[in-house]
Amino acid sequence: MLLSAKAASSSGPQIALFIDKVEWHARELTRAFAALGARIVPLRLSACSFDTRRSSGIAIPGFGARLPDLVLVRAVGLGSFESITLRLGILHALTELGVPIANTPRAIERCVDKSTTSFLCFHNKIPTPETFALQSPRQARALVRRECARGPLVLKPLFGAQGRGLKLIRHEDDLPDIELLAGVYYLQRFVGIDRGGYSDIRVLVAQGRVIAAMTRRADHWITNVKLGARPEPVQIDDEMRDLALRATAAVDADFAGVDLLRGADGRLTVIEVNSMPGWQGLQSVTDLSIAEELAAALLARYGLMSTPAELAS
Ligand SMILES: Nc1ncnc2c1ncn2[C@@H]1O[C@H](COP(=O)(O)OP(=O)(O)O)[C@@H](O)[C@H]1O
Ligand SMILES: [Mg+2]
Repeated sequence: MLLSAKAASSSGPQIALFIDKVEWHARELTRAFAALGARIVPLRLSACSFDTRRSSGIAIPGFGARLPDLVLVRAVGLGSFESITLRLGILHALTELGVPIANTPRAIERCVDKSTTSFLCFHNKIPTPETFALQSPRQARALVRRECARGPLVLKPLFGAQGRGLKLIRHEDDLPDIELLAGVYYLQRFVGIDRGGYSDIRVLVAQGRVIAAMTRRADHWITNVKLGARPEPVQIDDEMRDLALRATAAVDADFAGVDLLRGADGRLTVIEVNSMPGWQGLQSVTDLSIAEELAAALLARYGLMSTPAELAS
């Protein structure tokens, strides 16, 4: 029988944190989980392997014959289609073995593929801009001819992040060659409004609760903090909370960073749901420790919270 880390160790829950490199978020999480009696073991998902000589069938460096009590995924890492498939396969296998994973590979897949997020928002009647994902250049040109008569579209990499590779499309000739887009056109109605600058709202949700939110203000319509947008505090209202919670539930994520944009009609729409969100910008305008809120929410969710007596011992 597999021994869980909790049973094997008196030092509290043992948590595998999948990361690309040890940076601010990993340090924050390590500190926050330690304060709650849990130990973070940071490692790359690419360092894990299937090994059918082991009782679990999986080798996770740092865990020996044991399995983690909880797995946190901050990064899947870059790689070929095959290597990413293997990494996701390992996450799916851990789920199969009953190891709690936040976020689950299913939620990660639903968010990394922006077209599935769009479909799930649409399907769950969550306001989101009209969106199209297609593979035929001929169909894409026809779509742009038809749709751009009503205003511009935004072209995004299907697997994009941090505002990279977005392009405004006003005319079919603005469409890049499909080879430059990994074979997929993901096109969305442009809802950015210039109000003497641009802004959107990022809401961080964990376990059905809003942890923190900010406005991101920028001179450009792409408002990612990585591209220089300025984080500002925002008073979360019912509309923001409702959309962020429903979008997170639609992708079935334990925690998520939800991007909201206000359209010309004054209503908010869901632009994107991030299953591996960063929160450094958000932390800069938030009083409470986001890592501590996340740690407490996740440990409570999976029944791993130590009692005050255990913490003191
Ligand atoms: N449909 C849209 N209309 C207007 N602006 C958009 C639209 N989609 C994205 N943007 C802008 O681009 C930014 C990045 O887009 P997003 O879909 O969140 O991708 P990423 O994964 O790169 O963050 C958004 O925060 C917003 O400022
Ligand atoms: Mg985004």
